[in-house]
Amino acid sequence: MPTMTEEQRPDFADQTVFRDAISRFATGVTIITTHADGHDFGTTASAISSLSMDPPMLLICLNRSSSTQAAIREAGFFAVNVLADEQADLASAFATKSGDKFAGVEIIREQTSSPLISKALAYFECRVTELATGGTHTVFLAEVQNAVAREGSPLTYFRGKFGRFENALQEQTYAKLRELILTRELPLGKELEVDALMSRLDADRAQAYYALTKLTAEGLVQRDSDDAYRITPLSAQNAREALDARGAVELSIVEHVINTASDEQLARLLRSAERAARSGTGVAPTLDAFVASAREYHEAFVALSGNAYLIDFHRRIGVHGIWLRALEGTDWEPTIDAARFTDVAAALADRDADRAKARIQQVIDHLKTMATAAIDGAGGSL
Ligand SMILES: Cc1cc2nc3c(=O)[nH]c(=O)nc-3n(C[C@H](O)[C@H](O)[C@H](O)COP(=O)(O)O)c2cc1C
Repeated sequence: MPTMTEEQRPDFADQTVFRDAISRFATGVTIITTHADGHDFGTTASAISSLSMDPPMLLICLNRSSSTQAAIREAGFFAVNVLADEQADLASAFATKSGDKFAGVEIIREQTSSPLISKALAYFECRVTELATGGTHTVFLAEVQNAVAREGSPLTYFRGKFGRFENALQEQTYAKLRELILTRELPLGKELEVDALMSRLDADRAQAYYALTKLTAEGLVQRDSDDAYRITPLSAQNAREALDARGAVELSIVEHVINTASDEQLARLLRSAERAARSGTGVAPTLDAFVASAREYHEAFVALSGNAYLIDFHRRIGVHGIWLRALEGTDWEPTIDAARFTDVAAALADRDADRAKARIQQVIDHLKTMATAAIDGAGGSL
């Protein structure tokens, strides 16, 4: 198998970046139970997968620090209880280590001694056939000996929150539409017709309306006097405010990053900055590639704060969309000040907060001037 050089290796080895990215993978929620040494054990788990049909098998991944994991090793059996959307309280209760998790929970037993949650959407009784280790987790491969299902909707887990299946789909529709707007794939000024959006986004009517309503609240879409949804034009004022907001986030985390990031994390950020700088100055650079790698650099920087709210807020500001809208079709390469990425990352690597902050502020001022010129040049809005 070809191996990656250090330079090609993506920077997602960072735990915060990984956690944030993998949280976009919407899952169902289960409670894994077992019975060992005369006691019932149970833990909330989403790392489960169907494995084989013949024989019917599934796999689960449990942290080696989990007491349920240790009990399953001993028992050789476990049950997977798939939770219904009204069972979020059970999911929270079984995601802790303390207390009698089974108190007040209606359970039954069928073919094995593992407790089964009687109101679960489905349950599977399983016999462990193989064990593997992956990082901190034990992977149990198991044959399914009994499976029972009932009608209902599943509890979901998406971006750190429990929800209903419909919500996860609504959020995906919103995220897709937001990207189409920010990248200008949907033209400014033209009505956003719900039927057209439904087919473009592979969404139903409720999901399309949810996305439009949320984007309206965010100011990216507006509802005109004729009740039509249209993309809100980007004014120079909006662009300057967005750039100020991004600057404020980045300036506010400089001290924190300098005090808490490891040398390895800062070296990775510097490599990401070098990639961003190269993508804006190399042979025949494209605006899309430059904006994408600049965005990667900024996300990696903010991820060093380890603060999920800041990461999310920073992403929602959507500054990359400003550049795609403002610079498309212009002679952008000489104006982007590509050295800014490496200047800031090098100052952070040198643990020089003042130098990093001064450069960030200078960049924000420069970008505001650039965005204002581009938007004014395009007639005042984009
Ligand atoms: C939605 C959700 C999914 C989870 N998925 C897993 C998982 O797949 N594997 C795991 O080891 N822990 C998972 N956890 C964490 C465990 O539920 C938690 O560590 C629990 O306290 C372990 O309890 P125990 O030590 O009694 O087994 C999850 C938590 C939540 C809230």
